[in-house]
Amino acid sequence: MLVTGGAGFIGANFVRRIALHHPDARIVVLDSLTYAGDASRIQGVRGVELVVGNICDGTLVRDLLISRQLGFIIHFAAESHVDRSIRGPAPFIQTNLVGTFSLLEAAREAWGDDSSARFIHVSTDEVYGSIEIGQAQEGAPYAPNNPYSASKAGSDHLARAYHRTYGLPVLVTHCTNNFGPFQHPEKLIPSAIACMARNEPVPIYGNGQNIRNWLFVEDHCAALELVLAHGIPGEAYGISGDEEYSNLDLLTVLANRVDLALGRLPGTSSALFEFVPDRPGHDHRYALSSTRIRDDFGWCTTTTLLEGMDRTIMWYLKTMDL
Ligand SMILES: NC(=O)c1ccc[n+]([C@@H]2O[C@H](COP(=O)([O-])OP(=O)(O)OC[C@H]3O[C@@H](n4cnc5c(N)ncnc54)[C@H](O)[C@@H]3O)[C@@H](O)[C@H]2O)c1
Repeated sequence: MLVTGGAGFIGANFVRRIALHHPDARIVVLDSLTYAGDASRIQGVRGVELVVGNICDGTLVRDLLISRQLGFIIHFAAESHVDRSIRGPAPFIQTNLVGTFSLLEAAREAWGDDSSARFIHVSTDEVYGSIEIGQAQEGAPYAPNNPYSASKAGSDHLARAYHRTYGLPVLVTHCTNNFGPFQHPEKLIPSAIACMARNEPVPIYGNGQNIRNWLFVEDHCAALELVLAHGIPGEAYGISGDEEYSNLDLLTVLANRVDLALGRLPGTSSALFEFVPDRPGHDHRYALSSTRIRDDFGWCTTTTLLEGMDRTIMWYLKTMDL
């Protein structure tokens, strides 16, 4: 299989999982190693070949698919940080939109009408915009509100169109906020752990009442493996965790667990909270249904938020430069 962005957070977790569960798998990781990519996340993993290159290079992708006879693409590569997309959207349009187009074209050329091939396009719940009540279902109207989610939405439409127009066996997955080992330190949970451990202010946007659903990265990867094995081309699958929290509540739980892990007095970390001006276009709530994948494939989460948080905290305390 070709795993784009396999040196990133979710991609690396996915590659490690596949290598563990399928020792005979041949995995080619295509990753341009942006600031978010880190080859050490997949170094020494059995059966993995890292090709440092850009998904926008269609010739490279097509040659890889043909020369290595790769029948599956799991497409993680993206610019993924909303704050960066607000400061400078151009790389988001280039990688997320043009890059996905280039991959779809390369797959179309390399695979012809091979119906056993699979292209899993990994997307986000953010394309549905803010959901005040209930949960977005697969097929709900899109309403992206920031350049990141708009670029992902555009790439989802291309993926869908390549199935409808050319019969390319594309499946789209949407997931909620992932957390776990190997996440880049700029993201909410790792950056908060680092601030707490260093006794630095922990910034919280606005009043901290924005609500997100949290998914442990290993549960997400297990779901993707099921979609790869059993998913129906042309379909979309929502993958969400069981627990939703306001950012303030999430950070309060995190602060308590960090204090516990560091043997500090309760309240030490939450005393570092500092409210900062809200992010422009900040969606109030994301919520996504995963009924389809639960009913059709028997998927469920196996890691609670607290268990996942403790594992994540221990991992960062061990590996972070504090
Ligand atoms: N992390 C989340 O909570 C989350 C939630 C919903 C959806 N997603 C989606 O999941 C996917 C993976 O997210 P992540 O958090 O692992 O991202 P990440 O930022 O940690 O990793 C992205 C990887 O893609 C690589 N990359 C970027 N541009 C590239 C290019 N032009 N060519 C080749 N490689 C390139 C980077 O080097 C990096 O290794 C993304 O598509 C993202 O939109 C993530």
